[in-house]
Amino acid sequence: MPKISKKGISMPESPIRKLAPFAEKAYKQGKTVFHLNIGQPDIKTPKVAMDAVKIHSLEILAYTRSEGSEGYRQKIAGYYAKNDIHVKHDDIIVTTGGSEALLFAFGTIMDVDDEVIIPEPFYANYNGFSTASGVKVVPVISKIEDNFALPPIEEFEKLITPKTKAILICNPGNPTGYLYSREEIKKLAAIVKKHDLFLIADEVYREFAYDGAKHYSILQEEGLEDYAIVIDSVSKRYSMCGARIGCLVSKNKAVIKTALKFAQARLSPPTLAQIASEAALDTPQSYFDDVIEEYVGRRNVLIQELNKIEGIQVANPKGAFYCIAQLPVKNSDTFAQWLLESFDVDGETIMVAPAAGFYSTPGVGLNQIRIAYVLNKESLVKAVNILKEALKIYKD
Ligand SMILES: Cc1ncc(COP(=O)(O)O)c(C=O)c1O
Repeated sequence: MPKISKKGISMPESPIRKLAPFAEKAYKQGKTVFHLNIGQPDIKTPKVAMDAVKIHSLEILAYTRSEGSEGYRQKIAGYYAKNDIHVKHDDIIVTTGGSEALLFAFGTIMDVDDEVIIPEPFYANYNGFSTASGVKVVPVISKIEDNFALPPIEEFEKLITPKTKAILICNPGNPTGYLYSREEIKKLAAIVKKHDLFLIADEVYREFAYDGAKHYSILQEEGLEDYAIVIDSVSKRYSMCGARIGCLVSKNKAVIKTALKFAQARLSPPTLAQIASEAALDTPQSYFDDVIEEYVGRRNVLIQELNKIEGIQVANPKGAFYCIAQLPVKNSDTFAQWLLESFDVDGETIMVAPAAGFYSTPGVGLNQIRIAYVLNKESLVKAVNILKEALKIYKD
């Protein structure tokens, strides 16, 4: 039989989705499964976006320009200006989700065997995108005890080699919920300039900053124009995960020119979804105020309930809609599977994401899970209760 590539074999499974067959079995047994494993918000997509695809007058669903339609990019630039981020439409390439923006960024700045330093735990698919690009992830560990704050900058410096091309951060963080401060961004800015590296910031959760904290984008940092690459997406901002629209933003002309070649190779981002995403930019501020209030409420309930369980340690998230919880178990992979296969409270169980897949250092995070608080408060309380009852009887 012809052989599968080494790259294909080494592609990691997503910790977010790999337990899906066990969830399927649980449904077949008639169980209700609370999904805490995936960042699929239950929030309604803004009506303006849905209406735009219902009433469009297209007769041919044609390709758009590879970099995205000009009208949409102009409007995205307007959105950034409102967020005090000053870019032009030609600093933006519209992509098929933030996922494709990450792939384009890696392809644009890194060759096979180059290295990217990433504070871990990090969004699990960074492992997948790196493998697909032949790039090596060099992790720098951030700790639950520090709420996953930026590790000391010397730790980054120790890891820089001639192969290092970039530092990648996620702000606010998935899976940590950590929101980097302006000072932390400035420290990163200084180190990338000193070592002539790119700084990639995945800012897909920009709006989800809580407790009065304001998100500070790397594109706001003066002097970082040639170094900064931002990854963005409509998926979480407007609860439009299925639209598959994101963008890559950089003031570095060579980055945009090169990323455009990757964009040309896949012809065009989705046309109808660009129409929806352009309309979504007219979403009233009141939508975001309500959404943020809802997430803060959910976070508060979740953290309060988790803290009541003996033996659990949890970092308090300041942004995004995830948290990492450290459990009194040896292996959260087996625990998560057991929850689906062998446990329920009155026919209800939970699906969580084992956190080891959010690390690239082997053996780290084995006793941690990621919880996405994308369910209403009542369901979250029930879900944490299921976790509590499960921990009472589980033995690894
Ligand atoms: C941190 C982060 N970056 C990027 C993505 C990719 O999102 P999408 O491709 O839907 O824009 C996600 C999705 O969950 C994410 O959490």
